[in-house]
Amino acid sequence: MDYGKVVRPQVASMNPYTPGTTVSQAKTKYGLSSVVKLSSNENPLGTSPLAAAAVAAVDDLNIYVDDDHLELRRRLAEPYGLGVEHVLVGHGSNDVVRTLFSAFVAPGDEVVVADPTFSLFPKDAVLFGGVPVKVPLRDGVHDLDAMRAAVTARTRMVVVVDPNNPTSTRVERDAFARFAQALPDGVILMLDQAYREYMPPGSVEGTDWVKERPATIVLRTHSKLYGLAALRFGYALGDPELLSYAQRVRIPFGVSRPAEVAALAALDDHDFVRRSLDTNEAGKAMLYPALADLGLHVYASAANFLAVAVPGTANDAYEAMLRRGIVTRSGDALGMPGRLRITIGTAEQNALVVAALRSLVAAAA
Ligand SMILES: Cc1ncc(COP(=O)(O)O)c(C=O)c1O
Repeated sequence: MDYGKVVRPQVASMNPYTPGTTVSQAKTKYGLSSVVKLSSNENPLGTSPLAAAAVAAVDDLNIYVDDDHLELRRRLAEPYGLGVEHVLVGHGSNDVVRTLFSAFVAPGDEVVVADPTFSLFPKDAVLFGGVPVKVPLRDGVHDLDAMRAAVTARTRMVVVVDPNNPTSTRVERDAFARFAQALPDGVILMLDQAYREYMPPGSVEGTDWVKERPATIVLRTHSKLYGLAALRFGYALGDPELLSYAQRVRIPFGVSRPAEVAALAALDDHDFVRRSLDTNEAGKAMLYPALADLGLHVYASAANFLAVAVPGTANDAYEAMLRRGIVTRSGDALGMPGRLRITIGTAEQNALVVAALRSLVAAAA
């Protein structure tokens, strides 16, 4: 049977998402007993203890969750002066993106994205018959002027990932304001701020734009700062009327009770948040000068990871790091040749990274 005939053409030509190497894959490949995973920008301190305790206390697994998630949505919206109806929840922000694209992207619609950026966006555009219009970064940063210039009468959506994955860079607040104001009304501005909490003061606050510009949608997640990547919880903040269309097509009960209670508890875990942000800042303070010492360029990071230029190819550097028990992401797979994407870890993990990079540099000399 030629299944090529039964599958939609958009899917037939698609590659599966390739996640980073897992710890057990790395151990098996090089016979390692201990492996440090710095490939998916997870929280190196683990999970919010309050969230973990809330999950452990969950019962009623036989009963469907109250799918309105009113308390959680209220808590997520409140800090920004928004309401329950401004929040669309999902099984991770990836799921929310899928829901939003299914509601808004029709065949032939153009979706303007940066290149490289988080691969889900061009992929979901294609899935719904849309056309990704890729605009190269300029010096590792979204080229907002070029993205604005790429908008045509067929543009349905413009996606800004801030900070951008894989480069870790952010856009300037003033440049973003000019860009957002210049976008035509009918164009949805999708702002993925998965790493918002790590950003330095003076960064774009997406929710300001939800209030300022109606067709603006901000994406957030509990996968990073709150250490809940495995549990899956993410959400969008946007205009209630616009989001009401996406609410119609979201998967019912897509946020489980464990995810709901953990997401709520994590919001109260100020101690874990503080320690996580402090660890990240301390990591940057140690890594920037160490990388400069090694002569390795790194973009200024507004997130919890670094995009580090390496000698030789990214794939070779990735493999050399892996042999030493450090899992990173090769920029070759992410549209960022010549660089590794490395999560900022604990002090101990960061020291291992520097030592491994030092031997890479020495081997290349
Ligand atoms: C820019 C960006 N958005 C979204 C996600 C994934 O979020 P979630 O785990 O909520 O689906 C990631 C994860 O790496 C990311 O880098």
